[in-house]
Amino acid sequence: MTAMIIDGKEVAKTIRERLTQEVKMIIDRGVTPGLVVVLVGNNPASESYVRGKIKACGEVGIRSEVIRMEATVSEAELLQTIERLNQDPEVDGILVQLPLPAHISEKAVIDTIHPDKDVDGFHPVSVGNMVIGNETFLPCTPHGIIELIKSTGTDITGKHAVVIGRSNIVGKPVALLLLQENATVTICHSRTASLAEITRQADILVAAIGKPQVIGKEHVKPGAIVIDVGVNRIETGKLVGDCKFDELVDIASYITPVPGGVGPMTITMLLQNTVRSAASRIAR
Ligand code: GUN
Repeated sequence: MTAMIIDGKEVAKTIRERLTQEVKMIIDRGVTPGLVVVLVGNNPASESYVRGKIKACGEVGIRSEVIRMEATVSEAELLQTIERLNQDPEVDGILVQLPLPAHISEKAVIDTIHPDKDVDGFHPVSVGNMVIGNETFLPCTPHGIIELIKSTGTDITGKHAVVIGRSNIVGKPVALLLLQENATVTICHSRTASLAEITRQADILVAAIGKPQVIGKEHVKPGAIVIDVGVNRIETGKLVGDCKFDELVDIASYITPVPGGVGPMTITMLLQNTVRSAASRIAR
């Protein structure tokens, strides 16, 4: 079997076209959706991610601003800035790019962002609402993964989904969202015994490990849907996923490429959260 490639750029494009129309309608009602990204220090990967987010905002008509702070900024000053943005009625979404310098508490920062503006979906209130299935801002990468699986036309109900990885940003939330879609979900991680034995049972396999090309054909059942969340730069400078794409493309029914799979969807879901937040501002 040769897998169909899930084209994240194409799925993202369709959603962004819809969002562009929604932004126009929101602007017609007197509200311009606004996102503020706070970037502390100059981590090259973070700089690149932030550029991608700002560019995407411009493409759909969202007003965006980057607040840059020195890597030496105090936690108190960063929290004060977030408080100010919480109060600013023109700001619909606040995103503090992670990781932060070691002297700043990620938890304190996330806890300070008002849940109504938490377009990353990282605040404990957002996470709690997601767990119980209330409407809330869903975290962007996990939500994007669900949209990619749905784009194949597959009904997730009753499928065995295996997630490899238990981070708060991807593994745990994507497992919960798959559960909400009525999958039977197994979460594997670095301490899991007999990993391949479990992953070979997956109808849907989500690899969010953060190590280059560790998932091979011994891990995958023929016909499975494989979602590769990894973005790893290897010595040659090439970007690769957590999966051995060339091996799995002969086994899976659908597979996401890296780059061009999950990545474009993460930003798209951020845009969607920001537009939803602005739409709720009209109602207020
Ligand atoms: N760093 C890497 N991914 C993310 C993300 O989704 N949100 C934020 N705020 N920081 C990140």
